[in-house]
Amino acid sequence: MAVYATLYIFAYWIIGALRNVPYEKREIMKTKQKETNQWNPKTYNKHTAFVSQLALPVVDLLDPKEGERILDVGCGDGTLAVEMERRGAKVMGVDMSSEMVEACRANGIEAYVGSVTALPYEEVFDAVFSNATLHWVKDAKLAVQNIAKSLKTDGRFVCEFGGEGNAFALVSTMEEVFAKHPEFGELDNPWYFPSVEAYRTLLESEGFRVEYAELIPRPTPMDDIMHWLDIFANGVTKHLSKEQFETFKVECRDILKTKIYTKEEGWMLDYVRLRIDAVKN
Ligand SMILES: C[S@@+](CC[C@H](N)C(=O)[O-])C[C@H]1O[C@@H](n2cnc3c(N)ncnc32)[C@H](O)[C@@H]1O
Repeated sequence: MAVYATLYIFAYWIIGALRNVPYEKREIMKTKQKETNQWNPKTYNKHTAFVSQLALPVVDLLDPKEGERILDVGCGDGTLAVEMERRGAKVMGVDMSSEMVEACRANGIEAYVGSVTALPYEEVFDAVFSNATLHWVKDAKLAVQNIAKSLKTDGRFVCEFGGEGNAFALVSTMEEVFAKHPEFGELDNPWYFPSVEAYRTLLESEGFRVEYAELIPRPTPMDDIMHWLDIFANGVTKHLSKEQFETFKVECRDILKTKIYTKEEGWMLDYVRLRIDAVKN
């Protein structure tokens, strides 16, 4: 009996203590969401800096204002958060990857490890921003619910991520190579590429008013497709041996050469972005 009473008091004390910790100081709660990919900020920056460079129009769409509090979901190394702070806002980053969060903090941005599907904030932020992240989150409904909960009324949600048809050549090629190698098992596709209609319906069902939603085909140059596979396909291949991973990459490269490579332009990723501007009712 005494043990139960002690446990009860202890739990009560922990909950009370957490309630009193200002949200800025709180590490994000543990989440069931598993990391779908591993991120190395150095390699990412070396070969795929275009991810944040090409997202400046999304920052323009958000139009961060002096003194606003903005949550950057999937902040990565914080390149875009730095840009938003340069325009006068105060940004907090959240990212599943501790390596990315470390890089983000090194860039002077307050950041925490955590998932968009388990945010501990309630009506705290003037805006939520996200670039190139939400296609990694299969439970889109839970993500949108958490974003809505974190926003104040009239708060803006501006994001861009892979939409319907994104990376079709890339994903179908990976599926082809997996199908050719039963020893690789099934390709566990971690990506969510919704249509404008599907995402609009989801946002409206969670209390957003959609001001703008567009699918934007954006062929994107890449230095070497082998680097793309290293950076973005390490999650779907993590169960493969080193030799199997090499086979996977070489076979993908040979097939993709016939689909998204030309002598004149080199590698051109078949990206299609979904860009959203919504307001919480
Ligand atoms: C392609 S990077 C984009 C980073 C940054 N937004 C940019 O524009 O450079 C995707 C990021 O999403 C993060 N991520 C993936 N799933 C997430 C989740 N459920 N919650 C928060 N971040 C997540 C990854 O750790 C990674 O840093």
